[in-house]
Formats: sequence, structure tokens, C-alpha cells
Amino acid sequence: MRGAQITGWGAALPEKVVTNHDLSTTLDTTHDWIVERTGIHERRVGGSTSGLAIEAGRLAMEKAGWEPSTVDLVILATTTPDQQVPASASTVQNELGLTCGAFDLNAVCSGFAYSLITAHGFIQVGLSRILVIGADTLSRITDWDDRGTAILFADGAGAVALEAVEGPGELLGWDLGSDGSLRHILDADIGGYLNMDGKEVFRRAVRVMVSSGKAAIERAGLTPDDVDLVIPHQANIRIIESACNKLGIPLDKAVSVLHRTGNTSAASIPLALADAADSGRLQPGAIVLLVGFGAGMTWASAVIRWNP
Ligand code: UT7
Repeated sequence: MRGAQITGWGAALPEKVVTNHDLSTTLDTTHDWIVERTGIHERRVGGSTSGLAIEAGRLAMEKAGWEPSTVDLVILATTTPDQQVPASASTVQNELGLTCGAFDLNAVCSGFAYSLITAHGFIQVGLSRILVIGADTLSRITDWDDRGTAILFADGAGAVALEAVEGPGELLGWDLGSDGSLRHILDADIGGYLNMDGKEVFRRAVRVMVSSGKAAIERAGLTPDDVDLVIPHQANIRIIESACNKLGIPLDKAVSVLHRTGNTSAASIPLALADAADSGRLQPGAIVLLVGFGAGMTWASAVIRWNP
């Protein structure tokens, strides 16, 4: 039997900070409204998807002690590649000095959780070291005159180094899903801006976080009481509160960095994971539920044991 565990992690955010006060100078909104309805205080904007992915990926490789020549694959979860062609993963592979396969995966805000599960499949069929990155520059596809979306979306990247181990490894349970009949509630045409029915996304998000999180926990042979830490997609603190409440997991077990990052799509879960790991909140042996949702709709959950 061949499994995997996370042995390194890294995060990257652009330097430029955009506060709610900054937004209120150009939009009909206020700092207090944004904080009360979303939990977001500020966000980072700028850079390129591959540039942020390279920075986060390099940190994850350093933490894991990986030489570039030993990496077997790069999976880059992103909705905002730098170009239509090629995949931004090819830029990341080249700039990090890797000599391996590389591809982009688009499952929007669920992309990192999808990629982590996908990477475990590659480990099963023989690869040993996979760099899994979530990176997005949503600011490029956000209409900064639309207060319904401009207050939420931002840029960033997070990465993990996933390494094969003998035995079952640390992925204990997982769940993936998509309901393409809901494509219209959050979309962007090629070359266009994000369009969102915020209320509907909110309602559906809570529902799928609960059903998918529960499915992954059950498949791990665990109950919500066994979960030590939840690392959810960072979209809105009220979505996280409501989902934790319905899952029966206390809110103080949920990691949230969205007050300073906003919604960074595929980057949001690995950014929160890196924060929890660096701050010592993630302790060896901890049972961790990663749960993502996003446009599609898509959703993905993974229960892992933290054992870096
Ligand atoms: O990765 C997934 C991405 N998307 C999401 O997760 C989004 C999920 N949805 C949400 O986070 C929330 O629906 C929003 C934050 C987008 C909106 O919050 P809400 O509590 O659902 O507000 P609402 O749309 O019900 O609007 C309430 C009021 C309305 O005014 P009236 O009709 O009550 O007079 C809006 O016009 O707030 C108004 N409003 C705003 N006011 C100040 C809407 N947006 C703003 C704004 N600033 N930015």
C-alpha cells in the first residue's frame, strides 16, 4: 500500500494592500458593511498567477527539503492562468528548475482540494513527490466598479509538498462533486468579469460544505467530534460560521485568514493551511478537514492527519 503526507508548505501574497476604506472611496460601500457581511478587512492585489505560485511553491519545496531534480509533478490549481495557452504550471515548472510534468487544474475555488486528491491518485500509481499549488489573481477578472464582487475577491498563492509514504498515508477520507446546472450563479466569460448571484452562492455554499464535509468525515470512519481543525475555503466568515454550526464543529476549530486575504479562490485553503502550520495551530496528529466550494458549482473535501 502506498499513501502520502504533506511535508512542506508555503504562502505568497502580493505586497499591495487594498483596505475596505480604500474601496469605499470608489464604491457605494463602507468598511463596517463589508466586515459585518463578510469578515474581510483588507485584501492583497497584484502580481501574476505564476509569479505567486512560484514563490509559494519554492517555500514549500524548501520546507520539505526537496531538490528540484527530485520533484515528479506540479499540479497548479487556478482559474486565472497568465495566458490562455500555455498552462501557467509550465512557467512554474521552468522557473523552479523542475524536470517533471506540470499541468493546470481548474475547479475554481475547490481547485486546491481537487488537486490534493488528484495528487494522491498519482502517488498511488507510482509518483513520489508532487508540488500542489493553488494560485489565483482574481483581481484581473473582477469589475472594480461592482460592489457585489469587488469587496470579496483578491490575489494570492499557497502550496504544499506531498510525499509518498509506505502504508495508507495521511489522507483518511475525501469527497468530490459538481453540479453544473448551477453554472449561472457564478461565472465569467472568457475576457470578461465575474458575475455572481451572491445570495444563491451563499445558500448553496453552506449546503455543499456540510454535505461534502460530512461525506469525507464518514469515509474516514470518523465523526465531526474527531475533527481538530477545519480549513475551509475563505469566502465569507458567515458561510464558515453557518457550515461549522450545521456540521456540529465549534467555530474555534475553524481557521480563518480572510480578514486579511479576502477570497483568493484556489489559493485560499493552502494560504489558511500555511498560516495554521506556521502559527503552531496545526499540531502533529491533528485530524484536519479541508473543505472547498466554488463556481460550477464544485465542491471537494479531504480529511487528513497532520504529520509533516
Ligand atoms: O468562492 C465563492 C465566491 N462567492 C461567495 O462566497 C459569495 C457568497 N455570498 C456572499 O458572500 C454575500 O451574499 C455577499 C457578501 C456577496 C452579500 O451579502 P448579503 O448579506 O447576501 O447582502 P445582500 O446581497 O442581501 O444585500 C443586502 C443589502 C442590499 O440593500 P437593500 O436591498 O437591503 O437596501 C444590497 O443592495 O446590502 C446592499 N449591498 C451593499 N451595501 C454596501 C450589497 N452589497 C453591498 C456593499 N456595500 N458592498
